[in-house]
Amino acid sequence: MIRVLLAAAFSALVFVSPVVAQETSQPDRSATGGAQTLEDILARQRGENVDSEFRSSNIGDPSSAAGIAQQLGTLGGASDAEVWRALRYGSSDVTVSAGGDVARVLVQDGGMAWLEFREGPLRTYGGYALLGVLVLLVLFYLLRGRIKLDEELTGRTVTRFKAIERFAHWLLAGSFILLGITGLLVLFGRVFILPTFGPEVNSYLLIGSKWVHNNVSWAFMLGLVMVFVMWVIHNIPNRTDLTWFAQGGGIIGNNHPPAKKFNAGQKIIFWSVILLGGSISISGLSLLFPFELPLFAKTFAALNSLGAPGWIGMEPLPTVLSPQEEMQLAQAWHAIVSFVLMAIIIAHIYIGSVGMEGAYDAMGSGEVDEAWAHQHHSIWLDDLKKSQAEETGTAAPAE
Ligand code: HEM
Repeated sequence: MIRVLLAAAFSALVFVSPVVAQETSQPDRSATGGAQTLEDILARQRGENVDSEFRSSNIGDPSSAAGIAQQLGTLGGASDAEVWRALRYGSSDVTVSAGGDVARVLVQDGGMAWLEFREGPLRTYGGYALLGVLVLLVLFYLLRGRIKLDEELTGRTVTRFKAIERFAHWLLAGSFILLGITGLLVLFGRVFILPTFGPEVNSYLLIGSKWVHNNVSWAFMLGLVMVFVMWVIHNIPNRTDLTWFAQGGGIIGNNHPPAKKFNAGQKIIFWSVILLGGSISISGLSLLFPFELPLFAKTFAALNSLGAPGWIGMEPLPTVLSPQEEMQLAQAWHAIVSFVLMAIIIAHIYIGSVGMEGAYDAMGSGEVDEAWAHQHHSIWLDDLKKSQAEETGTAAPAE
């Protein structure tokens, strides 16, 4: 019997107490004419359950409020859904005394979609893409092994890359690696650094990463321009590229297709670096100078005029974008293209170091053994010898 009474008393407490609590925690809303108070907002931010009944039962007294057209005019406690909708979707007529188009956007609805994309698919797919490439390369190494030299070293070397070419390559490579690491820290710091090393370490790393990322970007752009100017002539597609593809690039099997200075695989790397690196640079500049370099509305308009979205069954792309949306799209594009280029470059680093015997020397000392040059770039070696022979006035040695 006592147990039953206790249970009844307990359940009465459970059901009654929230009511009591709510009654006692009702804030005094007389100062706002019965409308929401700061206390309500703070309570909601603390995750407390705020009884919003007052918002529908007491809509204030619009007649005693300042006229809506007047400065500080309000609708009393009433909310004008049309006004809020217009603010939310950027169609309201807002006038500002400073800040231009950027300040005219009071509510930016797309910010949440961007945040969710950045914290969700971008991190997930981007991270898995890089890990996937690493796993594939380990598998490739285990199955194919290092691409070896078939012939004995001759002991005679030829210059593959001059000092200025190697300088440009390492400027590009060093800056890209720094940009990649710092970019990944900014994107993943909150997920991996913060829980393990705490907010202080994460904060210092992020501040440092941002500084390095912003400043090293100039070195990357300089390297990109130098590499483009010096190597574009050697990267124009030609017929030897078809032979290279037909023979699987000599990567699968033991063929060594003839090649000029760069083979078709290297041309793919070159153009990926130039086009994707160029696009990363332009979207990066747009991020570096906020709101100064909007790119997407005009690009979307150009794509629409070509009918490009229709090719993949999409509606025309939006051509009116708020300055904030432009920045969000620039960030998303910058990160997506960077992930693609990082994945490609990881494969390039593999083939330029552990993946191929003798390859590193080309960018290290700039000198390669003639046996290596003959195996991988036979046409280039022949042309080089011919021009050397012409310069010295001797006949080119027979093959
Ligand atoms: C530690 C990292 C890297 C190593 C060991 C490396 C190594 C090499 C080597 C050995 C070559 C010359 C290949 C030949 O003689 O035919 C080369 C070429 C090249 N590298 Fe790198 N590289 C690295 C990073 C990068 C990065 C980060 C980029 C660009 C973002 C890059 C872009 C290029 C380009 C465009 C070429 C010419 C095309 C080609 O040979 O594929 N490299 N690299």
